Amino acid sequence: MTFQLWMQGVRQRTEQALDHYLPSATHNPTRLHEAMRYACLNGGKRLRPILVHAAGAVSGAKLTALDACSVAIEMIHVYSLVHDDMPCMDDDTLRRGMPTCHVQFDEATALLVGDALQTQAFVTLADAPVSADTTRELVRTLARASGAAGMAGGQAIDLASVGHPLNEAELEQMHIMKTGALIRAAIRMGALAGESLTQTELDKLDSYGKVLGLLFQVVDDILDCTGTTEELGKTAGKDAAADKPTYVSLMGLAGAKAFADDLLAQTQHLMADAGQSGQRLKDIALEIVQRTH
Ligand code: IPE
Ligand code: IPE
Ligand code: MG
Ligand code: MG
Ligand code: MG
Repeated sequence: MTFQLWMQGVRQRTEQALDHYLPSATHNPTRLHEAMRYACLNGGKRLRPILVHAAGAVSGAKLTALDACSVAIEMIHVYSLVHDDMPCMDDDTLRRGMPTCHVQFDEATALLVGDALQTQAFVTLADAPVSADTTRELVRTLARASGAAGMAGGQAIDLASVGHPLNEAELEQMHIMKTGALIRAAIRMGALAGESLTQTELDKLDSYGKVLGLLFQVVDDILDCTGTTEELGKTAGKDAAADKPTYVSLMGLAGAKAFADDLLAQTQHLMADAGQSGQRLKDIALEIVQRTH
């Protein structure tokens, strides 16, 4: 199966699983449930589920376990997007080519969508068909990556940094936290779900995940500057307009692109002896750099 077809299959099964785990829009409170479904089932590249499944192929995990991990991490990701777009954060009106959740519904609903998706993520993970020990490790991995030491902490640094240029080390730390942590967690969750890998094998995948997560946000910074609103499905040029510290603001466009190439080379080096089962993980790094949205 080609890589593109395989990714399409993961997207489809993730969307079916999301549909299954999301509350029905006909049940009360219907407006909240409708908004949760609106935010989750409206496209998106599903990169984190794709990473879960790619790492799951390495660990030999059951597809049903990978579905639970995929739904959980995608719900956390969507919650982070819904809150990221709110007026108190990036104040964006377009996401995945549609009005942002608070525009389509209202701010209080968007806040609650994030709250409810976050808790539903952990309910889903608690039901994953794996041992109790693995469930605990999955929950710990996702919780750490989402909280103050990961995504939420990175978002706090992002907001506090508007108008304050960060040096390279500070910017790298912010990106590793706000975006990298969930990408790294996606790989670790797929790797854990197979309940077969040694600590050394887990650590190796984790090193790859750390570089890949940083690479992903560097490319997001580049695309904000080079992409059109139509291509991106979100308003282009927002970072410069909001005076956000990004790799483009720090290094210029050419510098940021060179840095992304350097990170891509690092990912391929880290996975050089990964073998056939690791090929998809390697391919994802290329996909991230070549993407247009
Ligand atoms: C956008 O993430 C926000 C960042 C963490 C940079 P994605 O680019 O993965 O967004 P979707 O899920 O495809 O919409
Ligand atoms: C967001 O970074 C990272 C999150 C945790 C959501 P951005 O603010 O750059 O994401 P976009 O560009 O709005 O998708
Ligand atoms: Mg932001
Ligand atoms: Mg944003
Ligand atoms: Mg961005």
